Amino acid sequence: MRAALGAAWRWALLVSLVGVIDGEAGCRFPAHWAGSWFQSGVPLVRINASHIETKGECLQAAGDKFLIEDKSENCFRCVVIHEKHANVLQYKETYCDEKQSLDDLCSLITGDATLFSMLRLDPPAGPVACPFKGPFTFTYNRGSGECWSPVSRIDSCTDESRLLLRYQACPDVHGTESTVEELVCLATWKEGSTRYLIGKVFHKMATSDEDRYRCFVYDHKQSNGRSMFEVAQSGDATCNGLLSPTEGSRTMKLTKVENSKSRCRYPNWVTEHHQWHTLDLSRSYHFSHKNATLRISHSGPEMRVICHNATESHHQVTIVAHTTSGCNSGYVCMRFYKRDGHVIELQQSNNTVQVAEEACNPEYFPHTTLPYTTLITATLHPRKCPYLGRYTVTGLHENVPQQLHHHKRKKRAIVRSKRQDESNTEPDCDVENFESLSVGCTETLDTMDFYSCNSEAVSAYSCHGNWEENGTSFLIASPVSRKSTGARRYCFIYTHGGNKGDGSILYNDAKWKRDTTLHVSTATESCHRNITPGISGHRVFNLTMIGQCAQAASTGAVSATAVLLPSVFFIIIIVAVISNLR
Ligand SMILES: *[C@@H]1O[C@H](CO)[C@@H](O)[C@H](O)[C@H]1NC(C)=O
Ligand SMILES: *[C@@H]1O[C@H](CO)[C@@H](O)[C@H](O)[C@H]1NC(C)=O
Ligand SMILES: *[C@@H]1O[C@H](CO)[C@@H](O)[C@H](O)[C@H]1NC(C)=O
Ligand SMILES: *[C@@H]1O[C@H](CO)[C@@H](O)[C@H](O)[C@H]1NC(C)=O
Ligand SMILES: *[C@@H]1O[C@H](CO)[C@@H](O)[C@H](O)[C@H]1NC(C)=O
Ligand SMILES: *[C@@H]1O[C@H](CO)[C@@H](O)[C@H](O)[C@H]1NC(C)=O
Repeated sequence: MRAALGAAWRWALLVSLVGVIDGEAGCRFPAHWAGSWFQSGVPLVRINASHIETKGECLQAAGDKFLIEDKSENCFRCVVIHEKHANVLQYKETYCDEKQSLDDLCSLITGDATLFSMLRLDPPAGPVACPFKGPFTFTYNRGSGECWSPVSRIDSCTDESRLLLRYQACPDVHGTESTVEELVCLATWKEGSTRYLIGKVFHKMATSDEDRYRCFVYDHKQSNGRSMFEVAQSGDATCNGLLSPTEGSRTMKLTKVENSKSRCRYPNWVTEHHQWHTLDLSRSYHFSHKNATLRISHSGPEMRVICHNATESHHQVTIVAHTTSGCNSGYVCMRFYKRDGHVIELQQSNNTVQVAEEACNPEYFPHTTLPYTTLITATLHPRKCPYLGRYTVTGLHENVPQQLHHHKRKKRAIVRSKRQDESNTEPDCDVENFESLSVGCTETLDTMDFYSCNSEAVSAYSCHGNWEENGTSFLIASPVSRKSTGARRYCFIYTHGGNKGDGSILYNDAKWKRDTTLHVSTATESCHRNITPGISGHRVFNLTMIGQCAQAASTGAVSATAVLLPSVFFIIIIVAVISNLR
């Protein structure tokens, strides 16, 4: 029994040894080669641990030499594979032949044998940073002469693995045309003194991977103190015949565009807070790099905005800035307005232009019609509210968003019908039905308290800054305790409805007249200018003044002191009870 087992074991060992000697069990490609690869002229190539689709099964390996059996053709070949980059394999191979030793077969590869390139599809680590970082101007030659006038241009994208090449057509050079190509850099490596780049070029004429994958040879130089690159591009999806940066299907000479030495900075009142947010917090504006760079982030790609020229006047600054968003770049005009401590506003041109001097032309920057973006700091500080006093609230309702009811602007009453309330013995008081408001009637003057019909429910807002513009007032406020569905910040927009008494309108808080009315609308994204207070906007209502903070409210109005005093006594009693317990 023991002997039989021993014999079986020895047999198994012998078989496995023969296998190893024969190379049939031990041939493995590096694990990280596994995956799908592109090769010019060949359908998709898949590589697994021991098999290359279109070539066959690996039988034996020695360094970068592999003996591969093509079972369908019943023949063998030597393939020498060099990994140039995690995303690039290059190889040379013999014809498929009779079985020979690995070394004998591999010695048949001559120096001038064709070099094949395989490029990884969907590289796991993604693309790589491009070796040249724009902006550049460049001239190019597609074989019929150098196109240098007008000069072409390369811009970097926000993503450093992408470049945008804007080719110009030269009238005197045949075959040149004005096109835009986007280059995604996939791999770079160096061989001797030659530097290679593999990239994918996207343009409207490129419809397949065969059109898009290109090989580049490049060289970096300094010329008259300026950074330059010479670049040769392959005519097909291989690196064949690409030997120097001055010979190729297309050659280019890149010259770095030096940043203008202008010391353009965003002004202090804009940068003293590094970060600004829109009221609904959907976008943030972040200043960095010595206050010369602004990054605007929202759901799409980040926008990088570099100050180019700033003209400051009273409480406002007009800036020409170079912006990059994805691969779109150009100049925009922006105007920042200083509003109140932690509030600024911004107008920005819609589209980019390629000439800085044109960005602020009224054609591209129609400041009378461009919308305003209201920006606030991340942490808000309480400020004194405007229009201190006590008011009755009338007509409070919420406008249904216009996109839902485009044709008829519908009002959704959040006030329950009065008739319904009257029929009940105990009125069902809707806490959202605010009937009165007291503004700044606290010690710190920085809160607005809304009272509902039962005089108890209070919705409080904290004031964070206000300003007036041509008869319309704007106030930034936030709910003191927020319902999960409500907005976090509001812009209250006011106009004066006149005074029923002597007709004089005085904005000064101290002389604020009784019976003066205010029309109010709220907005949640920005302090929109196309809103008519009391008519359109998110929530609308009218306010009629009934007294100063210090005065007791007159008939028909709810007195805040009447509401607050009992609670104050209640707190005092609790405090007294607690101290007695101690
Ligand atoms: C590799 O792929 C070949 C062909 O698809 C298949 O026959 C073989 O079993 C695979 N080997 C491994 C180790 O997955
Ligand atoms: C950026 O602006 C802030 C606020 O105005 C200032 O304190 C800071 O020194 C500025 N930084 C640079 C590098 O200019
Ligand atoms: C900035 O713009 C103003 C107004 O267009 C112009 O007068 C000024 O020369 C510009 N400054 C620079 C440095 O370009
Ligand atoms: C700016 O964009 C808005 C909306 O996208 C459009 O309604 C408006 O006409 C544009 N204005 C200009 C000057 O292009
Ligand atoms: C506010 O008053 C104005 C003018 O009296 C009126 O047109 C408007 O409809 C009122 N708004 C509300 C919400 O009641
Ligand atoms: C102020 O309002 C008047 C009348 O509506 C208007 O003609 C004028 O252009 C406005 N001014 C500003 C600076 O908005």
